[in-house]
Amino acid sequence: MSAGTPFRLAILISGRGSNMIAIARACLAGSIAARVAVVISDRADAAGLAGAAALGIETATVLPPRAGGGAAFEPSLAGALEAHRPDMIALAGFMRILSGRFVDHHLGRMLNIHPSLLPAYRGLHTHARVLEAGDTQHGASVHFVTAELDGGPVVLQSKVAVEPGDTEATLSARVQATEHIIYPRVLAWCAQRRLAWREGAAWLDGRRLDAPMVEDFRAAARS
Ligand code: GRF
Repeated sequence: MSAGTPFRLAILISGRGSNMIAIARACLAGSIAARVAVVISDRADAAGLAGAAALGIETATVLPPRAGGGAAFEPSLAGALEAHRPDMIALAGFMRILSGRFVDHHLGRMLNIHPSLLPAYRGLHTHARVLEAGDTQHGASVHFVTAELDGGPVVLQSKVAVEPGDTEATLSARVQATEHIIYPRVLAWCAQRRLAWREGAAWLDGRRLDAPMVEDFRAAARS
C-alpha cells in the first residue's frame, strides 16, 4: 500500500450484519483509517445488505449452489473479493465454513469474530452452552482465520459477566455490544499497520501475541 492509498476492507456477512455496520460506521467516523470497499453476502436475504447500501457501500451476493448459485462458490467468492483488492477481509457473522485451500490463499489477511472466549466453545450455540455449563464469564474473540475452525491466533477478546437470570438472548446481547467495540479496534490496528501476521502468529506493535489482548467489560456492567 503506498502512502495516501486508503486501506481497503471487505466484509463477509450472512445475516443481520450488526458487526459490519459497527465497522463501517467506525470507518466513516475515521476511527478506522480504512474504507469498506465491499460487503459480500452468501445469502440474498441478509438484512445487512440493505444496511450496507444505506451507508453507500457497494454490496455483492455470492450464492452457494443450493441457494441458486453456480457450483464454484469459492472461486466466485474469490473473484468478487479480488475485484475489490481488499487489504483485509473481515468475516462478520459469515456462516459458511471456508475450505483450507481458500483460507490458506488468504492467510494473514482474514479475521473473524467468534462469540466465545476461544479456545473455549468453538462452533455454534456458544451462549446456550455457556449457560448450560454454569460459567461465570463469557465474551467474544477476534482472531485470524486459519484452516482450523475457530482455531486461529486470537488478537483481542472481550470479557463479560454471566449474570444471574441470564437467558441466551440477554447474554448474547451483552456479548454483541462488546463485539461492536473490539472488532473495529482490531481493524483499526490493521489499518495502522500495527497488527501483522508473521510466522503463523499475530504480532502487535512488533511484539508477538502469545496470549490474546483482553478488554474486560465485567466491572463496567456492574457500575
Ligand atoms: C456475532 O455474534 C458474531 O460473533 C458471530 O455471528 C454473529 C453475527 O452477528 N460470528 P451480526 O450479523 O454481526 O449482527
